[in-house]
Amino acid sequence: MSGGCDWVLAVADQTISDEHIVGPSSAPDDVLRVEHIAKSFGPTTALRDVNIHLRKSEVLGLLGDNGAGKSTLIKILCGFQKQDSGEMWLKGEPYSPKSVDDGRAHGVDTVFQDLALIDQLSVFHNLFLRRERVRKPIPFLSNAIMRREARKALDTIGINIPSIDVPVARLSGGQRQAIAVARTVSGDADILLLDEPLAAMGAKEGAMILDLIQRVREEGNVSIIMILHNYVHVFAACDRVSLIQDGVIALDKPTAETSIDELTEIVVEEYRRAREAAHIGNGASVAVPITAGADAPQVAAQASQKAAGGGPAAGGGPAAGGGPATGSDATP
Ligand SMILES: Nc1ncnc2c1ncn2[C@@H]1O[C@H](COP(=O)(O)OP(=O)(O)OP(=O)(O)O)[C@@H](O)[C@H]1O
Ligand SMILES: [Mg+2]
Repeated sequence: MSGGCDWVLAVADQTISDEHIVGPSSAPDDVLRVEHIAKSFGPTTALRDVNIHLRKSEVLGLLGDNGAGKSTLIKILCGFQKQDSGEMWLKGEPYSPKSVDDGRAHGVDTVFQDLALIDQLSVFHNLFLRRERVRKPIPFLSNAIMRREARKALDTIGINIPSIDVPVARLSGGQRQAIAVARTVSGDADILLLDEPLAAMGAKEGAMILDLIQRVREEGNVSIIMILHNYVHVFAACDRVSLIQDGVIALDKPTAETSIDELTEIVVEEYRRAREAAHIGNGASVAVPITAGADAPQVAAQASQKAAGGGPAAGGGPAAGGGPATGSDATP
């Protein structure tokens, strides 16, 4: 090691340097904007400094590795969790939802990663969860109307659900997912947050859901943030992409200005850094430059956990009413 040089035996730094963090930005037709959102769970920092905006009738793809903080951001946007710091605006007004129901009352509806379906209820009851049709003046459930409308909604998408009377526990993961998406898309919300809506779907069902999203988008009243892992889906469905890495937005571009190669390269680079750090964590050492004050052991531990695919499991997802999760995971 030569004198005057900062090269030391140390860990590869996992964090994105400040100049690569996408700062706050906006457009005149934004329906949603968030700035400097941070959220930690005990020692785990899920979001460090997140800035995103969503334009009217835009489909924004939210990308990032497992554990990058995508679901956490969605949960903050819909009111299930509260950010530690940072601000949000909905259609120009300060936005601070107190619950999922409050978010929904503001027009923000969500398909959660674990779907929040109620296994014991029928397909059509799940489709009308928390917006049940009731008779008047005596408020009994109007099953006939809900059945008819449920069948129509599913036929419109083209998803094959043999019976809408069976409990959703008897459906496949892809069918459950279709119901969760249909429920949200056929509601009154004008901002939809879809957390991996295609994760359990085969090619045909996935294409149908993408068609549905396309139709909704063309109507021009609904804006969508959608978490996706498959870049083919991203380029088929999204106007713009925001990529979360290490708790910040590391890329924000119209899909027309990026490519599968560019997105893959960013993720491969992150994976390479994590591998290096994991290697060091296992006893090997690599010479890399570090800046004074870098919290090396913590970074190594986080990175090694990440490279090993570890990390604490995300907490149980919110149910439709914002309570504890009731449905089983759609992505076994
Ligand atoms: N309720 C919670 N309690 C503790 N840690 C949590 C909780 N929710 C999320 N985390 C942690 O925060 C980080 C981000 O999790 P999040 O679920 O947002 O990731 P993600 O980007 O959605 O990942 P994936 O692609 O696997 O769904 C992870 O390290 C996760 O373990
Ligand atoms: Mg997630």
